[in-house]
Amino acid sequence: MRVLVSGGAGYIGSHTVLALLDHGHDAVIVDDFANSKPTVLGRLEALSGKQIPLHSFDLTDADKTERLFAQEEFDAVIHFAGHKAVGESVAKPLEYYRNNLDSTFSLARAMTRHGVDRLVFSSSATVYGDHAPVPYHEDYQPLSASSPYGRTKVMIEQVLTDIAAISEGWKVALLRYFNPVGAHPSGRIGEDPQGVPNNLMPFIAQVAVGRRDKLTVFGDDYPTADGTAERDYIHVMDLAEGHVVALEHLESMQKPVRPFNLGTGTGTSVLEMLHAFERAVGRELPYEVAGRRAGDLPAYWADATRAQQELGWHATRTIDDMCADTWRWQSDNPQGFPDA
Ligand code: WQD
Repeated sequence: MRVLVSGGAGYIGSHTVLALLDHGHDAVIVDDFANSKPTVLGRLEALSGKQIPLHSFDLTDADKTERLFAQEEFDAVIHFAGHKAVGESVAKPLEYYRNNLDSTFSLARAMTRHGVDRLVFSSSATVYGDHAPVPYHEDYQPLSASSPYGRTKVMIEQVLTDIAAISEGWKVALLRYFNPVGAHPSGRIGEDPQGVPNNLMPFIAQVAVGRRDKLTVFGDDYPTADGTAERDYIHVMDLAEGHVVALEHLESMQKPVRPFNLGTGTGTSVLEMLHAFERAVGRELPYEVAGRRAGDLPAYWADATRAQQELGWHATRTIDDMCADTWRWQSDNPQGFPDA
C-alpha cells in the first residue's frame, strides 16, 4: 500500500516508516518539523535504501492538505502528527486543541473528498484516565484524561469513530500506546526530545552520555515492589511493527471502530529501568530521589490480549533490548540529530 505518514519524521513515525518499507509498502512523509529534524530523512533513506517522498507543511493548513490529496494517490494514512507534551499542554491548552484537532479535521476532510478511507491513529493509554483498573482493557469506559493533550486523544478517537460509523468504506484502527522507548538497532535513529526530556528513558540516556548530571527519581514511596512508579514500556520497533500489522488488518476490521492496546502487559519500575540501563552502559548512573511528580499514577500496564488475538501481534523485545538500543543511539549521537 502507498501510505501517507503524518509526523513521519518524528520518533515513532520514523520507526514506522522503516517498518512499512521493510514490509513492502511505500511511505510518503508529511511533517512540519515542529518536533523533529529534516536530517532524519537522510538517515531513513540510508537505512532503507529507498527514496522517501517528503511534504513539509502543517496539516492544520487545510488548503495545503487538500492540494496534497488532489495531487497524490494514497491507499491509507497513519496519523502521528500532533503536539504530545503533557505538561506543555496544560500551559498551552488552546494551541494543543487547535493543532491536534485541526490537523485531524483537515486530514479527515481531505481523505473523505479523495476516497482515502483507511486510517491508523496514534492514540495513547492516557485516555484511560486516573481510575481505570489495571491492567487497562480497551473496553473500559468512561474515557477521560487529566491534560489537554490527553483530552485531544479522547476527542480524536471519538471523531474518527463517528466518521467511520456513517462512512461505509471507512476502516479505522485506534492504537493506544503505553510508554514507547528504545531505538532502531542501527543506532541511526532514535528519540531526540527538544530541551530537557520530560520522559524517563531519554533523560537516563542523557545522563549516561554526560548531557545531564543525574536522574531525579520522582518518588520512591509508591505502593510498588521498590517504591518507584511502574509503567508498561514498549520498544519502539515493536510499536512500529504493530502499526504495520494493524494497517494490514484494516480491511477485515469490523464496525464499530475498536481500539487496540499496544503494550507488553508488564510493569517496570523507574529503578528497574535505571538498573537495566546501567547494565547496557556497564557502569552505575547517578540519581537522587525527590518527591512525586504531580499527576503521576503509581502503576499501570496494558491488557495486551486483544492485539494478540485479533492482529496476531505482540511485543517481543525486552527491557534490556530497549536499554541497549537506546544506549547505542544516544552514544552514537550524543547531541541527537544534527540540525543540517
Ligand atoms: C515514567 C515514569 C515518572 C522522568 C508520559 C505521558 C503519556 C505518554 C508517555 C504520550 C514516571 C518517572 C520520569 C524523570 C522519573 N506520552 N520519571 N524521572 O508519565 O508514564 O507517560 O509519556 O502519549 O501520555 O504522560 O512517562 O517517561 O514521563 O515517566 O522518575 O526524569 O518515570 O515519574 O513514574 P509517563 P514518563
